[in-house]
Amino acid sequence: MNIAVAQSGGPTCAINASLVGVFRQALKTAEIDTVFGSINGIEGVYNDRLIILNSAITTNADMELLRQTPSTILGSCRCKLPDFRQDDNLYKKITATFDKHRISKFIYIGGNDSMDTVVKLSGYFEAIGRNDICVIGVPKTIDNDLCVTDHTPGFGSAAKYVASTVQEIIRDSRVYSIESVTIIEIMGRNAGWLTASTCMLRANGEIAPHLIYLPEGDFDVSRFVEDVRCEQAKHQAVIVAVSEGITIGDSDYPRELDAFGHVRQSGIGKQLEMVIANEIGCKVRSIELNVMQRCSSHICSKTDIDEAEQIGAAGLQAAMSGSTGKVMYFKRLSDIPYVVTIEEGNAADFANKEKPFPKKWITDRKNNVSDEAVRYFLPLIQGEVKTAMRNGMPLHFMLR
Ligand code: F6P
Repeated sequence: MNIAVAQSGGPTCAINASLVGVFRQALKTAEIDTVFGSINGIEGVYNDRLIILNSAITTNADMELLRQTPSTILGSCRCKLPDFRQDDNLYKKITATFDKHRISKFIYIGGNDSMDTVVKLSGYFEAIGRNDICVIGVPKTIDNDLCVTDHTPGFGSAAKYVASTVQEIIRDSRVYSIESVTIIEIMGRNAGWLTASTCMLRANGEIAPHLIYLPEGDFDVSRFVEDVRCEQAKHQAVIVAVSEGITIGDSDYPRELDAFGHVRQSGIGKQLEMVIANEIGCKVRSIELNVMQRCSSHICSKTDIDEAEQIGAAGLQAAMSGSTGKVMYFKRLSDIPYVVTIEEGNAADFANKEKPFPKKWITDRKNNVSDEAVRYFLPLIQGEVKTAMRNGMPLHFMLR
């Protein structure tokens, strides 16, 4: 029997660790002959663009390096499959590829949109009576916005990078004697988890960011200006963390949509910089962390990378036991000591749904988050991976 694995959606620095989890588990499973990797997610399956991972990843050193290599080694896609009852063309192509390569287990590593593929594909195989093909989802996203699971692989490393970088920006912001405002724009789409995670700096006695704005917090631009003025009375250098998903009404920024109808977000930091320049007139700078927060692996979380590998392995185990249409997830049993288990849920409970940052952890004025959030976030960023280096730079695994 052969299996296939694919990666889908926005990359993270832990998604390759999940692929390694699937691969290592396959090597331990006597019934499995070949592990195929699909290029560009599900697109690679219906276009029959598969590579044999057993030839590409040949040593334990390869696996160790791939585990700490950011982004998706197989490439990714943002592809929404049609409803198979209306158009089964792609599904027939997918089935043909699986049959051609004798693939009967398919592991899809992705976020809430990608879990839509798990639902549809497993539903299709059930509808045509192909119960021999199992489709399992393994979660990932820096947005941490998947329902059911306590957190998502990729989030802990992104949060560790963001908190560390914000701390460095804080150091830089305090060098001059003049008043300043620094606005840091953080990814997360419609969910404020990653922006909120900057509150972790409090654990080390840092009180900035002084203001934290999330999409869940009903942003109001005049209240924002008042908040900044109020913080300026206390701090010479005011630090503001804003989620990319907050909006200030109509703007001239171009807004493209992806295949799932999501607006391509970016630019709110710049817009707020203009607001402060016009309304307050002090030194103001905006910094968009952009893709660095999902592809910087030199300060990734060991907890995150280890968990990403474990949940990948668990995904294959679930498929081998005959499960299909399921997504693996983390259930947190305790914060201190940090204990999680890996469970199996219905893909329909994850697909196309978003888990917002909890309102109970947002302050009444909606410009910060409470200390309870620190307790939730901290375990996810613990531990460091010893980065492999060459010529003084991190070394990455590359397909040859
Ligand atoms: O979903 C992950 C994510 O990184 C979001 O935080 C961000 O808004 C989006 O992907 C960006 O999408 P793309 O990679 O298509 O530009």
